[in-house]
Amino acid sequence: MKIYANYLTSNINYSNYSSKPSFGTNGRVYRSQYGIEMGTMTYPFRSDIEWKKLTQYLIEHFKNKDKVNIVQFAASDGSEAYSQIISFLERGKGENLGKFFPIQAYDIDEEIIKAAKSGLLNINPQNIEHINYNCKDFSKYFMLSDKKLEINNNFDDLFNKPNYSTYQVCDNVRGKVIFNHADMFDILVSMEDQSNTVLMCRNVLGYFSDKVIKNTVEMASRKLKKDSLFIIGEIDTDKLLKYYLQNNNFKEILKNVFLKTA
Ligand SMILES: C[S@@+](CC[C@H](N)C(=O)[O-])C[C@H]1O[C@@H](n2cnc3c(N)ncnc32)[C@H](O)[C@@H]1O
Repeated sequence: MKIYANYLTSNINYSNYSSKPSFGTNGRVYRSQYGIEMGTMTYPFRSDIEWKKLTQYLIEHFKNKDKVNIVQFAASDGSEAYSQIISFLERGKGENLGKFFPIQAYDIDEEIIKAAKSGLLNINPQNIEHINYNCKDFSKYFMLSDKKLEINNNFDDLFNKPNYSTYQVCDNVRGKVIFNHADMFDILVSMEDQSNTVLMCRNVLGYFSDKVIKNTVEMASRKLKKDSLFIIGEIDTDKLLKYYLQNNNFKEILKNVFLKTA
């Protein structure tokens, strides 16, 4: 319940949006292997990233690269991957966007990665408005499904309300991400970079102690070379994360987006 209360009071600025999105496409809470009460809440086009600006930046910044590795830690139900993919698709053809795919997305929670792998998403009318705000046409990417996506410990009172329907994510989006069940710390340790990595580690480090955050940033700084990116989220920022990033050669170039400078 504590985590849920954090979401209720989280300080998101919706002033740019035609309507405030209601809560996430899931609200599962569980105790992780690290003994932490963990929430999987997310939603497409989560407002802590300027998706259009980020996508434009990625295209320009990596224009001379043949391959760009987008790695998503804490992938949850896939909303984050779909947001990034749709943002690229909205740019249309003409640019070599294939080099950004497939996104490799990881989550430690078997239940939520099973949901992501199903290609289904529970969506309510406010999510649809919010998605439509960020892309031109929701129906290009999501199709109403006759299947029902059930997620355990999903705050039943909120998420099983009749205004949520299950949608199938269309193949043009689904085919551009691979969901993996794995611990991000293991993946980070074995990571290799050729100055062409976008590491999204969003709304997860905020759950950990400052010591874990510091160690993770130092490891990310050793792994990521100049010109790669490290991206965080809204619930990470009330910790010392930004401070550690700045002390480890990362510079904030867009909201919550950090460029490795050396
Ligand atoms: C609040 S959600 C964030 C979802 C999404 N990144 C976003 O920003 O909207 C946190 C997710 O981190 C996952 N997670 C927690 N510890 C993890 C770890 N060690 N490795 C990978 N995923 C982890 C949880 O299972 C949960 O799905």
